[in-house]
Amino acid sequence: MTNPKPTVAITFGAILAMVLSISVAVFAGAPEKPADYDPTDGWDIPPPVENIENPVDDNDDARSQGERLYERECASCHGDSGQGDGPDASDLDDFPGDFTSDAFAELPDGVIFFMTKEGKDDMPAYDGDLTDQQIWQVIRYIRTLE
Ligand code: HEC
Repeated sequence: MTNPKPTVAITFGAILAMVLSISVAVFAGAPEKPADYDPTDGWDIPPPVENIENPVDDNDDARSQGERLYERECASCHGDSGQGDGPDASDLDDFPGDFTSDAFAELPDGVIFFMTKEGKDDMPAYDGDLTDQQIWQVIRYIRTLE
């Protein structure tokens, strides 16, 4: 008759290994802001988009529409604060950006519009999911984050 204990020990060991690897995944945390953070890093931005001006007037209505859309579409990754600390940020391979930084503030609206429409890697392309007008409203709101 064989002793059942080794099987129990192996099963227990396998469960322990599973629990440990899950904890590592959960505690791995979100990608951090690089010391030399440059929001255009790795993006292929066609120079003419820099000159596209935001056609949506900067007023309370545009900013509050933008806020509603931002909370619905962007905050899960970018965070309510816009600092890249949303609840889903830990699932991302790349730091999603710091919308409150000086480096980001220097980006022309047209570049932010292009990035939002086209996406890149874990950043979804919003072309079709949001109208152009909605993207411009979101940009009006993002500019208020500080
Ligand atoms: C599923 C997560 C996710 C969602 C949702 C998301 N983003 Fe992103 N976003 C990212 C990631 C990741 C990057 C960094 C991409 C890279 O550099 O490879 C990024 C980058 C950006 C950038 C460029 C800044 C930088 O530092 O790279 C802008 C602008 C941006 N997102 C705007 C938006 C807007 C506006 C929305 C909502 C309409 C949105 N994002 C929704 C994940 C997300």
